Amino acid sequence: MNEVFPELTEDVIGRMTGASPRLHAVMTLLVRHLHAFVRESGLTQDEWRTGIDFLTRTGQMCSDSRQEFILLSDILGVSMLVDAIANKAGEGISDSTVLGPFYAGPQRELDKGESILLREEDGEPLVMKGRVSDAGGKSIAGAKVEVWQTATNQLYDVQDEDQPHGHLRATFHTDARGDYEFRTIVPVSYPIPEDGPAGQLLRSLGRHPFRPAHVHFMISAPSYRTLVTHLFLAGDPYLESDAVFGVKPSLVVQPVQRDGLPTVEYDFGLAREQQA
Ligand code: BEZ
Ligand code: FE
Repeated sequence: MNEVFPELTEDVIGRMTGASPRLHAVMTLLVRHLHAFVRESGLTQDEWRTGIDFLTRTGQMCSDSRQEFILLSDILGVSMLVDAIANKAGEGISDSTVLGPFYAGPQRELDKGESILLREEDGEPLVMKGRVSDAGGKSIAGAKVEVWQTATNQLYDVQDEDQPHGHLRATFHTDARGDYEFRTIVPVSYPIPEDGPAGQLLRSLGRHPFRPAHVHFMISAPSYRTLVTHLFLAGDPYLESDAVFGVKPSLVVQPVQRDGLPTVEYDFGLAREQQA
């Protein structure tokens, strides 16, 4: 079948004469794919208007504390794709995954082995420990290990006024052997914010909003690529259907009993900045 109005696509692309080479390359692809989508789907004027309304409401939902466009990118798999391009894993380098919207910037610094709880929770206690190394297995002393997770009510402190500020999040530094360790509770699965357009889209598609139980990690050290990742708990019912496609098999852990406490032992490998 003949393409509808092919000269329009070339006209739009041909007018980008002031663009830098990268902007030209990206916008050319965007226009080609966008026009191909409209042609292939035979988009109706009603559907076009519905799409515009959806994107308008997505923008209106955004605030300093809510980024609905990133949520949309997350549930469509775009965030994981961008992450995969930026953070190539390799021998001895840990897998990355999405940052998510609940990293809250600089957080309380604690000593190795301390608890990240600021109030009691009815969750099962959990110890998380391991080593941070380079790709060759050489340990990295003084690496910054930032961790955060939800409370047992499925909310992060930043979503829940009843939680003490900084509850279930903290920053550690690896010791001289490159080791980190902290105490927490076994994380729970939880729904991503579903009261906006992203949640509406999930429902329309027959998808659930849940993420499997996980603890977030951001690990950084001078001259190494910062690792943004999670550890997921084995056995979680949502491991195969994470609402944001963030699960990678290498990040699924099974606690073992150590000194009478469930313990996750997990070693992280960082890429050198030039390996990035
Ligand atoms: C999270 O794990 O915190 C998260 C990630 C993506 C979207 C919503 C929440
Ligand atoms: Fe999370």
